[in-house]
Amino acid sequence: MIEFKRSILSTADSNQVAEHLQKRLVDLINLALILKQAHWQVVGTNFRAVHMQLDEIIADVRAGSDEVAERMSTLGVAPDGRASVVSETSTLTSFDYGFAKTPETVTAVADILLETITGLRESIGLLADIDPISEDLLISIAAPLEQHLWMIQSQEA
Ligand SMILES: [Fe+2]
Repeated sequence: MIEFKRSILSTADSNQVAEHLQKRLVDLINLALILKQAHWQVVGTNFRAVHMQLDEIIADVRAGSDEVAERMSTLGVAPDGRASVVSETSTLTSFDYGFAKTPETVTAVADILLETITGLRESIGLLADIDPISEDLLISIAAPLEQHLWMIQSQEA
């Protein structure tokens, strides 16, 4: 295994931060896949709006997963975004397969967005003292996701 010569954090801190970032990474990769599934299988009223809105969220989620993975590499720990690892370790609720009406899709997507945000906030709280740069990165990913949650769940009213 290759290790970088220069570490920003101590090995113990790097490993602890990386453990959190890895959890957030698999959730974000999983979330992007779930949202794409929702994008393909949504049907019914306001189809086009929801279909397009999901792609906007996916763009932010994919960018976020890339940033988290690259932060891990920066800290000297290889990120693991392999499909098998994502499927075994992401804790997000699994998404139902099959065409689904917009109200059910909106509700399911809102629930999964909140699960992802809750995980991000948990890591944000725990990383604050060890690595404020990683903390800041997760905050910058959570903020637009929280705005997306607002825009998704506003359609439930
Ligand atoms: Fe598409």
